[in-house]
Amino acid sequence: MKSVKDYIRTIVDFPHEGIMFRDVTTLFADPRGFRMAIDQMLHPYAGMQIDKVVGLEARGFILGGAIAHQLTVGFVPIRKKGKLPGAVISEAYTLEYGEAVMEMHDDAVKAGERILVVDDLLATGGTAAAGIKLIERLGGEIVSTSFIIDLPELGGRKVLEDMGMDVHVLCEFEGA
Ligand code: PRP
Ligand code: MG
Repeated sequence: MKSVKDYIRTIVDFPHEGIMFRDVTTLFADPRGFRMAIDQMLHPYAGMQIDKVVGLEARGFILGGAIAHQLTVGFVPIRKKGKLPGAVISEAYTLEYGEAVMEMHDDAVKAGERILVVDDLLATGGTAAAGIKLIERLGGEIVSTSFIIDLPELGGRKVLEDMGMDVHVLCEFEGA
């Protein structure tokens, strides 16, 4: 039987030379692949109390929506700067070149709510760390973080674990 990893396509030299882009669109497009990924992401949390799923732009929305529906809880997006219409809180994070900013509505998470954070991929951990800081600023209690892919060479898992996070990943790829 194919594993989740088998459904992920690698595009060489995207978005620029030397990068092996791990493309989850082929996983999402396959009915068995997508269901398997969602089921496996949910598996560690069976029986646990989760109040909300927070998804990181952009592929975290696809995963987070399916996971929130399955858990019968609400979904909250964390978006890149300037996309959310209401009052937001912001966190800057470091990219390969320069900085970017993630935002969340300032009323999207209530103090004490138990949150599951999801995204497709963990690389340096900068994106997820910014999301975690936003949730914690609103008093959210992060139960866990869940990703399809970890790129261990980039160290993101350690960054999140050093922040006290529980981290689940479905597969790893060597080479950034
Ligand atoms: C990718 C990926 C993660 C992030 C991981 O998103 O989807 O969100 O990078 O990298 P990091 O761990 O080094 O922060 P990207 O910033 O390319 O944007 P997108 O999801 O909107 O396409
Ligand atoms: Mg992303």
